Amino acid sequence: MGNKAFGGKRTKEDLSSDVEELRGMLAKLVDFETEEKIQLEKQLRESEERFKEIFEQHYDAIILLDPETLTCIDANLTAETLFGCGQKELKHDFSRLFKNKKKFEEFKKIVCDHTRKDFLIGQFSFVGSDGRNIFCGVKGKTIKIRGRDVLYCSFRDIKEKLEAEEKEKQIQVKLIRTNKMTSLGTLASGIAHEINNPNNFILTNAQMFADIWQDAGKILQDYYDKYGDFSLAGLTFPELKEMVPGMLSGTIEGSRRISNIIKSLKEFSRPVDNRLQERIDVNGVIDFSISILDGQVKKYTDSFGKNLGENLPAVAGNPQQIEQVIINLIQNALHALPGREHGVFISSSYDKDSGYILIKIKDEGKGMKKEIVERITEPFFTTKKKTGGTGLGLYISYSIIKKHKGFLDIKSVLDRGTEVVVKLPAIGREELHKEDNEK
Ligand SMILES: Nc1ncnc2c1ncn2[C@@H]1O[C@H](COP(=O)(O)OP(=O)(O)O)[C@@H](O)[C@H]1O
Ligand SMILES: [Mg+2]
Repeated sequence: MGNKAFGGKRTKEDLSSDVEELRGMLAKLVDFETEEKIQLEKQLRESEERFKEIFEQHYDAIILLDPETLTCIDANLTAETLFGCGQKELKHDFSRLFKNKKKFEEFKKIVCDHTRKDFLIGQFSFVGSDGRNIFCGVKGKTIKIRGRDVLYCSFRDIKEKLEAEEKEKQIQVKLIRTNKMTSLGTLASGIAHEINNPNNFILTNAQMFADIWQDAGKILQDYYDKYGDFSLAGLTFPELKEMVPGMLSGTIEGSRRISNIIKSLKEFSRPVDNRLQERIDVNGVIDFSISILDGQVKKYTDSFGKNLGENLPAVAGNPQQIEQVIINLIQNALHALPGREHGVFISSSYDKDSGYILIKIKDEGKGMKKEIVERITEPFFTTKKKTGGTGLGLYISYSIIKKHKGFLDIKSVLDRGTEVVVKLPAIGREELHKEDNEK
């Protein structure tokens, strides 16, 4: 057709050959289009298969949702495992994954916000088929599948992440507390030093005034008998006679308490002189501490038990300080008892595997709430202010044990009792440790 000019006289044969040629061209065109269509369909199928494969094997749980009704169109295997229910159940009722209707509506509101192409829900809590809570990080996107809008939601179980974060937070709190305690300790011992001198004036002067009052009281009584009542600082003599001795003994008592606190603080802030470290016989120290507390033990309980391990290795350190710890701990145990029929038990043993000597002080006292346990090693924390608690016992005990490279573990159950375990490295272990370090 191309080489034949139009406009000339065309024969019948010419026309039929043209038609033949056109027919051939048309067939080729149709073949090409069909080929292209087949090719496209093949690509689409392959891409869908790829999507399906990724969808099925994805590490995250993926659920495809209808953006209008929020019904489940498809869910991968991870989703079935994570939520503990099959595709059929999810397709039947996707809202079963929510604690209540409100939570479902909350979720719906976020994912059905069509103004956003991508959405990040953040952390959301779901309920598995066995009723346990499942915390997930949720991400979503609206995608098109076969021309239809579909919500692609991925759910990642973040339980381990949350647990790790919580652990990290606890370590942080512990570090901050230890740090705070160290600086508070330094501050407190500094203050103790400063307070010591003026407190000594108060104590000696108050004692002097008490003596003066004794002598002056007699003279004033004579005066009162002879000339009748008089007033000093607006108080009548009978009032003075009643009040002054109490005021003076209160001042002396208060000053003695300050003095005791200062003594403990100074004792505790004194650095341990390693050259002066002694071999401590733990059982001997326990027995000595109990003998010092004999009066108190009898006052608080009818049931005091002792079970000391035999042939315990020695511990290196300062025996007076370890005594101070044991006395503090036994006193705390006794103070916690609600009645004489409740007991306190002390034991010692050697844990061969760890190389630590264990001293356990267990009481059947009133126990503590978690919030109290968390604070008891803070300096000046006490729930016994009214009965003269200083809140320094455990703080000092904790610091002494730390200086001896040991541990102080406290377990308490409210209304049941408390168990304090002091762990101190046995001398054999220390040497073992030293050899390790020298290697
Ligand atoms: N064995 C125990 N049972 C119950 N509570 C205890 C026990 N040991 C300590 N505590 C609590 O810890 C607080 C701090 O103890 P501590 O530092 O020895 O100071 P203090 O005995 O002067 O109050 C106590 O006031 C008490 O509330
Ligand atoms: Mg105490």
